[in-house]
Amino acid sequence: MEFFIDTASLADIQQARDMGLVDGVTTNPSLMAKEGIKGAAAVEQHYRDICAVVQGDVSAEVIATDYDGMLSEARALATLADNIVVKIPMTADGLRATRTLEGEGIHVNVTLVFSAMQGLLVAKAGATYVSPFIGRLDDQSQEGMTLIEEMVTIFDHYGFSTKVLVASTRHPVHILQAAMLGADVATIPPAVLFKLIKHPLTDIGLEKFLADAAKMQS
Ligand code: G3P
Repeated sequence: MEFFIDTASLADIQQARDMGLVDGVTTNPSLMAKEGIKGAAAVEQHYRDICAVVQGDVSAEVIATDYDGMLSEARALATLADNIVVKIPMTADGLRATRTLEGEGIHVNVTLVFSAMQGLLVAKAGATYVSPFIGRLDDQSQEGMTLIEEMVTIFDHYGFSTKVLVASTRHPVHILQAAMLGADVATIPPAVLFKLIKHPLTDIGLEKFLADAAKMQS
């Protein structure tokens, strides 16, 4: 299972990368805005900076919602670095743009996916990644993880190469469940990623070992 980090914070990306925990990065306009990035030139430079610190795929989202606009933005984003993956919203124009861009060799991550049928359409369009937002389904009293189970099952049936990228993860159990279901990728906010490292029994155990080690030295 690949771990992507779901942030536009360079400091968090670097920290997680140094721990060997980053196979890729996902961003979106909300995450970019949170970092205070403003203006087209700054946005482009920020994507270049992220792509320079990670080897894996970095998702950069288009803002346009029409087919032609998505294509021109996506083509421009793809020139920024070899590891840029263009994020396209799950709409009719988005599906059409996905098919065109993948045909040109530009990798696409289709975002804002909330049903297995949407996921099937994304796979049929030939996207590299599909991003089901499970946390936002949980927020609506719908079991988000059921969607992952359905999509993994459907993609396995037909041998689709589109990777299931579990998005909108909110806590470590989401990552555990995604791994148990065989999802290809989970994109994880930094705070959740760093929580995966921790267990109180590890801290208690280490404290005891260090206390006992100190006894041996006196
Ligand atoms: O990867 C998608 C993610 O950034 C959305 O997360 O918590 O806003 O639903 P959230």
